Amino acid sequence: MSSEERLVDAYADGEDQAVEAALRPKQLAEFIGQPKVREQLDLVLRAARARGGTADHVLLSGAPGLGKTTLSMIIAAEMGAPIRITSGPAIQHAGDLAAILSSLQEGEVLFLDEIHRMSRPAEEMLYMAMEDFRVDVVVGKGPGATAIPLELPPFTLVGATTRAGLLPPPLRDRFGFTAHMEFYEPEELEQVVRRSAQLLEVHTDAEGAVEIAGRSRGTPRIANRLLRRVRDYAQVKADGVITKEIAAAALEVYEVDGRGLDRLDRAVLGSLLKLFGGGPVGLSTLAVAVGEERETVEEVAEPFLVREGLLARTPRGRVATPAAWAHMGLTPPQQSARGASGGPGQQGLFGA
Ligand SMILES: Nc1ncnc2c1ncn2[C@@H]1O[C@H](COP(=O)(O)OP(=O)(O)OP(=O)(O)O)[C@@H](O)[C@H]1O
Ligand SMILES: [Mg+2]
Repeated sequence: MSSEERLVDAYADGEDQAVEAALRPKQLAEFIGQPKVREQLDLVLRAARARGGTADHVLLSGAPGLGKTTLSMIIAAEMGAPIRITSGPAIQHAGDLAAILSSLQEGEVLFLDEIHRMSRPAEEMLYMAMEDFRVDVVVGKGPGATAIPLELPPFTLVGATTRAGLLPPPLRDRFGFTAHMEFYEPEELEQVVRRSAQLLEVHTDAEGAVEIAGRSRGTPRIANRLLRRVRDYAQVKADGVITKEIAAAALEVYEVDGRGLDRLDRAVLGSLLKLFGGGPVGLSTLAVAVGEERETVEEVAEPFLVREGLLARTPRGRVATPAAWAHMGLTPPQQSARGASGGPGQQGLFGA
């Protein structure tokens, strides 16, 4: 897969993961943006530390790359506790979860990524573990099976999900603190770029950082990735210094447009406009048209497109807004304003 293709993929490859780990803020004070989450979490952790106890269970929800894994590690670091990392899909059977839970140390942070993808029996075991710090381990099969109660040391569960809506309410309610991560403001991403540039020892001028931040789709992971690609370009084609011009030229090579839409975003919008006349069209159909997984379109491309006011999710399907036609440089067919944003003419909306 070429580096260009990698760019549209929100899931990092090996090299990216190594760099990503190196760029992770280690403490809450180093964590940029998300002021509400930071303030609330700071209180939760301080109070727990003052009591000499274990922090309440924390649920982190938000789009990919906004810092959920980073925050879970920060929670452990701030509590001076070890962290165990696993994920919903890795827990197939309740027994897998029992094995993890029963080996936790007191105060340990258990990070359960993609918690919405856990199996049902495991989920039920987790309810009891979260509430009573106890699990019932079933030994044997059939009528002779017995449940042996097992006491667990107090621990902090940190669950992460890109789809908080998919969590069953009994699970959601057992978290003492739920943090919803928002997309980042351009100024915050600028700080992320500057911080990462420093760690990577890349020289970026002020405008270069602004240019990268502005095309990062509100997402620190993308900001870091664009920074690395722009650094490559600057090293090969220039003197290594990232200026506004270098950043813009590099990102054009990588098909990241001025508003931060990458190839996937543009493919989704392009199909919606050209193949389906702006919609409405179902998510699955749209995903097939762009040759991507439904989840990728829904979780990677759409949140940003919706936020940018380029795409609307309606009960009848996905609909392009007038701004989408304008951004893609296409003219909407005469009647295509139906259902989009309900605005009267498109004229006024084209300005943005
Ligand atoms: N607030 C932040 N300040 C600085 N860097 C950040 C911040 N949030 C995230 N990052 C950077 O973005 C990258 C991605 O963050 P992280 O892996 O925590 O995202 P995530 O929400 O867990 O994503 P996913 O849902 O895909 O697992 C990390 O390398 C981290 O360095
Ligand atoms: Mg993560």
